[in-house]
Amino acid sequence: MDPLPAFPEGFLFGTATAAYQIEGAVREDGRGPSIWDTFCAEPGRVRDGHTGDRACDHYHRWPEDLELMSALGANGYRFSVAWTRVQPDGTGRADPRGLDFYEALVDGLLDRGIAPALTLYHWDLPQALQDAGGWMHRDTAHRFAEYAGLVADRLGDRIALWITLNEPFVHLTYGHSLGVHAPGETLLLDSLPAAHHQLLGHGLAVAALRERTTSPIALTNNHAPVWAASGSPEDAAAVRAYDALHNRLFTDPLLLGRYPDLTAFGVDAVPGVRDGDLDAIAAPLDALGVNYYNPVRVAAPGRGGGEGPSGLSEAGPELDGLGLPFVDVPIEGTPVTAFGWPVVPDGLRELLVGMRDRYGAALPPLVITENGCSADDAVGPDGTVDDPDRIAFLDGHLRAVHRAIEEGVDVRGYFVWSLLDNFEWSEGYHQRFGLVHVDFTTQRRTPKASFHWLRDQLRLRS
Ligand code: FCB
Repeated sequence: MDPLPAFPEGFLFGTATAAYQIEGAVREDGRGPSIWDTFCAEPGRVRDGHTGDRACDHYHRWPEDLELMSALGANGYRFSVAWTRVQPDGTGRADPRGLDFYEALVDGLLDRGIAPALTLYHWDLPQALQDAGGWMHRDTAHRFAEYAGLVADRLGDRIALWITLNEPFVHLTYGHSLGVHAPGETLLLDSLPAAHHQLLGHGLAVAALRERTTSPIALTNNHAPVWAASGSPEDAAAVRAYDALHNRLFTDPLLLGRYPDLTAFGVDAVPGVRDGDLDAIAAPLDALGVNYYNPVRVAAPGRGGGEGPSGLSEAGPELDGLGLPFVDVPIEGTPVTAFGWPVVPDGLRELLVGMRDRYGAALPPLVITENGCSADDAVGPDGTVDDPDRIAFLDGHLRAVHRAIEEGVDVRGYFVWSLLDNFEWSEGYHQRFGLVHVDFTTQRRTPKASFHWLRDQLRLRS
């Protein structure tokens, strides 16, 4: 395989993780329960009853994991803070033990020349706040800003990139509309206040962070290019509707200060918006985090489909019955990951160029905060893990990012999902996304062939 083309000076290369997916130690050092602890404990929610109780035991093994990042040659690392290690019930003073853990991690990264990108919220709301209404309740936005301030009081300028929320689109749809993720709500479109309150929480958190740090601030969302199943006007309308939900609902308010047109969903106005909210939400950002996995293909309702790779596909094939203005249509003729997601590297270039064209000067620099694939990886008899599909995936997607940069898009970094095989939400430990294989019985870490490949690519750069 040819070496990758040169990326701009200072480009960040690293891996991404999230607290609940890797840390384990869920009852240690005062950590309070989050909605994911509750969700996993409910029978039938997660495949085979898996939980994040132990996960990759990163809470104890983080020095070994830092060594892996150094061996990879990464100059960035994206991780998330578990809110309930800082505030066990989501309010009040910080528990210093939680902050001590993240401070040691951050200092360990800085010692190794790895820039810390810290996500404040990767879906693990304190259960106590969920009991008070969760993201459907406006007060949660204020609680989030308070928590952001506590983390920034301790870590402030040591963080290279602050990321407020991870994938509010997925948290809204999977967690609050369809119930396949915590908190398991099935509110369908009645979940929209949880969209607004996440965004308001972001805006208030940005203000709290700006008071405490001059480091750059971003929000990360999941994005996908949306393709029409045919050239018909009906399918074009389905594309507009799906695109509004997946790509615009959280990004238009951030960058343009207004919600997109949701009339195709029978929604005239997002409920819960008060005077001044959109100004807070549209406070200037230094970067936007983009998580990309695959494009989505949709058709008008009643035209078949239902099993495609949209952000809603995990809800099952019955989307047609929900009265939505689109149905999901499979993308054919591409390789697929172990998850069944189509592999379309150029979709990432298309997405990035499309965002630039849509938002123009309002678009801040972009960082690819997640991209990766799951595969059925196993340690072979010789002790190695051969994952050629992941190497091809990463090679293809990095080249796509490079093409977008050549086309003039300002992209500043790329984080592989993920460093380690980990707890993949409702799939439990069944989807392996790591550059490093984890044996969940022994906790043994084995770098896969893709790890060695990426290390060699990064070495060539220095
Ligand atoms: C994203 C999540 C991340 C991981 C990947 C596979 O939606 O942000 O935690 O589960 O998908």
